[in-house]
Amino acid sequence: MQGRLTILAVCLSLYPSAVSAAEPAAERGERAMLTRHFTPPTFSPQAYDNVWKLWDGGLKEKPANYAQAFRDYYGMHESPYPNNGYPMGFREATGLFNRKLLASDCLLCHAGSILGKSYVGLPNTALDMDSLFADLTGADGMPRKTPFVFTNVRGTTEAGSMAVWLLEMRDPDLKLRSPRLNLELKPHLCEDAPAWWLLKKKKTMYHTGGSDARSVRSLMQFMMSPLNGPLVFRKEEATFADIQQYLLSLTPPRYPFPIDRELAKKGEALFGESCARCHGTYGEKWTYPNKIVALDEIGTDPTRYHGISAAFGEYYNRSWFAQERSGWLVDEYAARQSPGYQAPPLDGLWATAPYFHNGSAPTVADVLNSKTRPKIFTRSYRTDEAAYDKGKLGWKVEVLPRGADAKMTDHARRKIYDTTLPGRGNGGHTYGDHFTDEQRRAVIEYLKTL
Ligand code: HEC
Ligand code: HEC
Repeated sequence: MQGRLTILAVCLSLYPSAVSAAEPAAERGERAMLTRHFTPPTFSPQAYDNVWKLWDGGLKEKPANYAQAFRDYYGMHESPYPNNGYPMGFREATGLFNRKLLASDCLLCHAGSILGKSYVGLPNTALDMDSLFADLTGADGMPRKTPFVFTNVRGTTEAGSMAVWLLEMRDPDLKLRSPRLNLELKPHLCEDAPAWWLLKKKKTMYHTGGSDARSVRSLMQFMMSPLNGPLVFRKEEATFADIQQYLLSLTPPRYPFPIDRELAKKGEALFGESCARCHGTYGEKWTYPNKIVALDEIGTDPTRYHGISAAFGEYYNRSWFAQERSGWLVDEYAARQSPGYQAPPLDGLWATAPYFHNGSAPTVADVLNSKTRPKIFTRSYRTDEAAYDKGKLGWKVEVLPRGADAKMTDHARRKIYDTTLPGRGNGGHTYGDHFTDEQRRAVIEYLKTL
C-alpha cells in the first residue's frame, strides 16, 4: 500500500502543472512557522506583563521600554514578522473559552539576531530558557521552577534532554503513558542549536549526526507536550513536511563588512589543506563530506554525545517517530549511534558565534587556537555591532578570574560560561593550532566569505 502511494506521489510530481497552481511547499511551511504554534499555550499575557516584578535587582516600576527590557533579560529577539509586540519564540494563542494566552514555538531556540537584525534560522545564542519558563510560571502563580534544568548556561539549552523527558511519557504509538519510562535523562548537554540553513547540505543531522536529515517526524519531537494527543501528530505531519521544505530553502546572511580578498585567497588555500577534508569546499560547485569524527579524535566535550542514552535510541526507533518510511526504496529514518560529532558546513559561520556544539568557543579565532581559548568568561548577550568582534569573528567576551559564587542568583550565574563545568569543556579540535597568527588571520578572512 505504502509502495503504491509512493509511486503515485512520484507520478504526480512528474506533472509540475498539476502542482504549480498551489502555493509552493516552502511558502506554506514558512507561513506555518511564522503564524502557528504546535504545542498548546502555557502562559498568560498577564504573566508576560508582570514578570519584571520577579527580576534580579528588585525593580520598583515596570521598565519604560518593556518589550526591549524583556527581550534583553531573557535573551530573546525582536520579531521581524507581525507578532503583536512579542519576541520571536512566543506567539499569542487562543485557549479554552477564547482566553488569550501565550504559546512558545521553535523560534525560541531557532531565531536570533546579529548586528541589530533578526533572522529566522539563526540560532538563539542569548537565551536563558530556564529563567524564562520558571519566571513566567511563577508570575502565573505556580511554583517558580521547571521540571528539570532547561538551561545550564545562557545561549545553550538542554534540548536533547527535553526530547528524552517528553518521550518518557509516551507509548511507542504516542499515547500518553503512566508511570513514565526511564530513558536515562541526563543533565549538562549544554547545546547550541545548528543554523537551519545548513540542513540542506546534510545527510545526517543533530550534533552527532544521529538522524537522517530528511526525516520529517523527528522535527515533531517538541510537540510531545502532554496536552497533545497522538492524533495531533498524524494530523500535522503534512505541515511539518512543508516546514522542512521551508528550512531547506533558507540561506545564510552575508558578512556585511569589507573583506580583504587577497588575504581571503591565501586563507582559502590553507583551508583546502587543513580543513576541507572534514568541512567541505564552498562556492558554486560545493562539496560536503558529511563527516562524523570519532570522539577520541575530535576531543571536544563528550557530555552531549553520552547524554542521549542507547535506551532512548532503541525506544525512539520503536516509536511512531522512526516508522516514517518503510519497505519501499528508502530505509526507515531510524536514529543511529554515531561514533562522535559531525563536522558542520561553515556557511554563514560569521553570524553563528559562539562555536562548537556546546558554544564553548566565543569566536572563530578561539576555534583555531585551542591554547588561547578563554576559560571562564561572560558577555553582554546583546547582538549589536558593539558586542561583535570583527577581528576574531564572534562575540566580545570579558574573561573572569573565577567562576560563579554561591551567592549569585541562577539568572546571574547562567551568564558566566565556565569551561571547567560539566558539558562545557572547550578542549579538542586542534586543527588550527599549527597556524601562525598571519595564517590564522587569512583563514578567518576566508571564512567571512562563506
Ligand atoms: C529548546 C530549544 C529548541 C526548540 C524549542 C527547538 N529546537 Fe530544534 N534544535 C535545538 C538544538 C539544541 C538542536 C541540536 C540538537 C542536537 O544535536 O542534539 C536542534 C536541532 C534541530 C534540527 C537539526 C539541525 C541540524 O542541522 O542538525 C532541526 C531541523 C530542528 N532542530 C528543527 C526544529 C523545529 C522544527 C522545532 C519546532 C517544532 C525545533 N527545532 C524546536 C533546539 C531547539
Ligand atoms: C578531522 C575533521 C576536522 C578537521 C580537519 C577540521 N574540523 Fe572543524 N570541526 C570538526 C568537527 C567534528 C566539529 C564539531 C565539533 C563539536 O561541535 O564538538 C568542528 C567544528 C568546527 C567549527 C565550529 C562550527 C560551529 O558552527 O560551531 C569551526 C569554525 C571549524 N570546525 C573550523 C575548522 C577549520 C577552519 C579547520 C581547519 C583549520 C577545521 N575546522 C578542521 C571536524 C574537523
